Amino acid sequence: MCGIVGYVGPRQSQDILVAGLARLEYRGYDSAGIAVIDESGTLGMRKRAGKLSALREALETDPIGGGTTGIGHTRWATHGGPTDENAHPHLADDDRLAVIHNGIIENFSDLKAELVAEGVAFRSETDTEVAAALLAREYRANGGDLVGAFRGVVHRLDGAFTLLATHEDHPGLVVGARRNSPLVIGLGEGENFLGSDVAAFVEHTRRALAIGQDEIVAITPDDVAVTDFDGNPVQPSPFEVSWDASAADKGGWSSFMAKEVSEEPEAVANTVLGRIRDGRVVIPELDGLDELFADITRIVILGAGTAAYAGLVGKYAIEQWARIPVEVELAHEFRYRDPLVGPDTLVISISQSGETMDTLMAIKEAARLGAKTLSICNTQGATIPRESDAIVYTHAGPEVAVASTKAFVAQITALYLFALHLGRVRGSLSEEDAAAAVTQLDELPAKIQWILENEQERIEHLAHWMADTRSVLFLGRHVGYPIALEGALKLKELSYIHAEGFAAGELKHGPIALIEPGQPVFVVVPSPGGAPTLHAKVVSNIQEIRARGARVIAIAEQGDSAVLPHADEVLRIPLASPLFEPILAVVPLHIFAMGLATAKGLDVDQPRNLAKSVTVE
Ligand code: G6P
Repeated sequence: MCGIVGYVGPRQSQDILVAGLARLEYRGYDSAGIAVIDESGTLGMRKRAGKLSALREALETDPIGGGTTGIGHTRWATHGGPTDENAHPHLADDDRLAVIHNGIIENFSDLKAELVAEGVAFRSETDTEVAAALLAREYRANGGDLVGAFRGVVHRLDGAFTLLATHEDHPGLVVGARRNSPLVIGLGEGENFLGSDVAAFVEHTRRALAIGQDEIVAITPDDVAVTDFDGNPVQPSPFEVSWDASAADKGGWSSFMAKEVSEEPEAVANTVLGRIRDGRVVIPELDGLDELFADITRIVILGAGTAAYAGLVGKYAIEQWARIPVEVELAHEFRYRDPLVGPDTLVISISQSGETMDTLMAIKEAARLGAKTLSICNTQGATIPRESDAIVYTHAGPEVAVASTKAFVAQITALYLFALHLGRVRGSLSEEDAAAAVTQLDELPAKIQWILENEQERIEHLAHWMADTRSVLFLGRHVGYPIALEGALKLKELSYIHAEGFAAGELKHGPIALIEPGQPVFVVVPSPGGAPTLHAKVVSNIQEIRARGARVIAIAEQGDSAVLPHADEVLRIPLASPLFEPILAVVPLHIFAMGLATAKGLDVDQPRNLAKSVTVE
């Protein structure tokens, strides 16, 4: 959701804050603002509705020069529309205190009523301004102790928050607190940083500290102090960011998404790297944790959006190789239905950001009920992995475009690695099948690369011709079904046209009524050699919709000639055994969604109304 950055040190904080916000803009782009204590010791604030470019323009004509302490915010609106007034920072204490916030303070109406009764006037509709007013009241009451004011206020707030504040009386100090919302510390030389994630400061330092749940942090140029909400000192856990700033730059590509789709081969290769030893899957992070998985009788996979679809694909592999029943559920549905899980259940969460609130709350609930938890995550130091018993990181590198692409293929890869690991631990997978799967995994990056090199241009042309299309349907069967769902989601997210994915077998039970002459339908076709029965069924489905006038775009294996008489277009993918096809079949769909949005002149990196890391429920 919102992006947060804080800086104290010898350098011009305005520039550092704006650069940090640029890297966090994927988290929300409804407005942006900074507050800086300037060289005369006065707190200056600039904020603008709209993307960061609007704030940049405002700062060009009216900079806050000289200041070396500051905070910055990029917003995804929740309470109050995306206006200048509702943009963060929010000021209090006669405009000497500035506060920014990510999350939702659920009891803000009650708190606001209390403050209004005391005569406090509010300028915005946000819950954040209420927190600012509370901090100011506490600060005045305790004689000017900003950290103490945080301790006084955090106990009164319900919901999720990361709050950062800076006060004119304390140049060189930024204070923050977090509950159920992300915040990490970047350690520099004579300067320190705070950020919603490491992208905020990775161009300055790769040394970071993770802040735990319900903790308060105070940074000065030379010191970092972390306590719990009661003031007891806490030792934050250090970690090293494994990628550098250039990995989060566009590097000559027209968009982050174009770059990230081009990195899909690498995302798979890096996720496999170091996890195959002597032809067997060995996941070092799971060393010594066999016990954790010994008594489980079922697995529940949780996620949201694209991550949940990766989970649906993973189900097929885990059931086949580890012979254990798997259910896949949207995290937000699981959380509030009194789920039946216990010590015999392994709950696997999938999250690129590791901060999605729906997923975080769901795994906390699962842990409370006694389940074992494993997270598949792409972001070091994020909250979800830290709340889990075990972690398998995807190594897709930073994903900046809001809609997920390379993380999706990396998530499926990580699930497959885990399935192979579990199959070995449980003795359910033969050496021969394990070796064949490892070979398939190894070959995936080159096969994805083949699609990018040989089919991308053709798919982009197709997308261009289809720029005026009003609705696109996607069909798939078995592991192709989640790919149809992902193809539809990506198209909705990026190009705002109606798109739906269906299980091909479900067609005759309803969706076929949607088919009218000219209706474009993408069909993920199973391998004729690897899954002949499924292949035959899907080819029949193609004929059924074609007979009703559908325009069929088939995604089919090289050499599959059975589809040719029935499809208007055939997009080719290299041969792979059936379980590995989804990782290939999704690539043309990612390219297509990106191509169509580009043809419509839309911003593929920052689609309207969305945010990458949804840290509110
Ligand atoms: C948002 C993004 C999606 C993403 C989902 C889950 O809705 O727009 O692209 O798939 O969150 O995010 P996560 O970080 O948990 O994978």
